[in-house]
Amino acid sequence: MERMNRRTMLKTMGVLGCATGCLAGGLLPGAGSVLAPEPAMAATSGRFAQKDAPFSWKPHVLDAGVCAPVAYDGYWHQGYGCGYGVFYAIVGMMGEQHGAPYNQFPFTMLEVGKSGISDWGTICGALLGAASAFALFWGRKERDPMVAELFRWYEQTAFPMHDPGTAFKGVGGALPTSVSHSPLCHVSVGRWCQASGFAEKSKERGERCARITADVAVKAIAIMNAKQAGAFAVAHGDPASVTYCGECHNPGKQSPLLKGKMDCTPCHSGSPHTADKFRNHP
Ligand code: HEC
Ligand code: HEC
Repeated sequence: MERMNRRTMLKTMGVLGCATGCLAGGLLPGAGSVLAPEPAMAATSGRFAQKDAPFSWKPHVLDAGVCAPVAYDGYWHQGYGCGYGVFYAIVGMMGEQHGAPYNQFPFTMLEVGKSGISDWGTICGALLGAASAFALFWGRKERDPMVAELFRWYEQTAFPMHDPGTAFKGVGGALPTSVSHSPLCHVSVGRWCQASGFAEKSKERGERCARITADVAVKAIAIMNAKQAGAFAVAHGDPASVTYCGECHNPGKQSPLLKGKMDCTPCHSGSPHTADKFRNHP
C-alpha cells in the first residue's frame, strides 16, 4: 500500500520518471521536505526495499597517495586480491577516516573479484572493485561515464605503474609493462605474460596485479574526487574500432547485434593470437 501511495503521490506531483538526481538537484521546489521520509518508507515497503535510499551513501574525498599503498597491501592481505584491494582502498579508507556507514561494509565480499571473478578471468577484479565502490554513491546515469573513463583508461594504459619501493611484497624493482586494450582479466594477464615471458602463476605476475590494484585505486579516486568537486570530465575516448564497428552493429543499424563497449580489436582483428588454435597448432 505504501508503495502505491507514494507512486500516486509522485504521479500527482508530476515527477514520476524523474531520476533521483533531478530531485536532488533541487529542480523541484520543496522536494526536500516531501522526500524526507524516503529512507524510512523504503525500509518498510517490502520487496526490493533496502535500508537506505538508492545510492544514498555520501562519498568523501580521498588522498590517492595515501590509498595507493593500502590497495597494494590489500591485494596481498590474506590473498584477497585485486577487487578487495581497490574496494578497501576506497570504501575501507572512508571507514578508517569517517567511521560508519563505510566501516560497516563486509569488505571480504569483494574477494569474489580475484582473478576475474572466482578464477574465471572475466572482468579485471580491480575494475570490479572500483565500479562497485562508485555504485555505492552514484546510480547509473551518473556512474556510467565514470566507469567508462576508468575502463577506457585501463584499456589504453601500460601497466603496471605503481612502484612499492622497499615495501614490495612479491618482487621488487621495475617490471615489464603492457597495454591490454581490454578490461578483461584474461586478456590483460595473458598479454602481459606474453610480453614479459613470465608465467601466469609466477610471483612476478602476482606482483604485477598487486601494482595494478594500486594503479586502479589511484585512478578511481581521482575520478571520484573530481566528481565530488563537480569537475569530472571524460578524458579517454572510444577507440577507433568501437566507432567504426558501431556504425553497423549499434542499435538501429543494419546488424544491431552488439552488446557492450569493449575495444573490439583484441577479439575481432583476426590476429595470430585469436586465430584457430585447434588446427596447425604446436
Ligand atoms: C558497413 C557495415 C559494417 C561494419 C562497419 C562492420 N560490420 Fe560486422 N557485419 C555487418 C553485416 C551486415 C553483417 C552480417 C549480417 C548479420 O549477421 O547481421 C556483419 C556481421 C558481423 C559478424 C558476424 C558474422 C561474421 O562474419 O563473423 C561479426 C562478428 C561482425 N560483423 C563484427 C564486426 C566488427 C568487429 C566490426 C568492426 C571491425 C564490424 N563488424 C564492422 C556490417 C558491418
Ligand atoms: C573479449 C572478446 C570480444 C570483444 C572485445 C568483442 N567481441 Fe564481439 N564477439 C566475441 C565472441 C567470442 C563472439 C561470439 C562469436 C561466435 O558467435 O562464434 C562475438 C560476437 C559478436 C557479434 C555477433 C555475431 C557473431 O558472430 O556472433 C558481433 C556483431 C560482434 N561480436 C561485434 C563486436 C564489436 C563491434 C565489438 C567491439 C565494439 C566486439 N564485438 C567486441 C568476442 C568479442
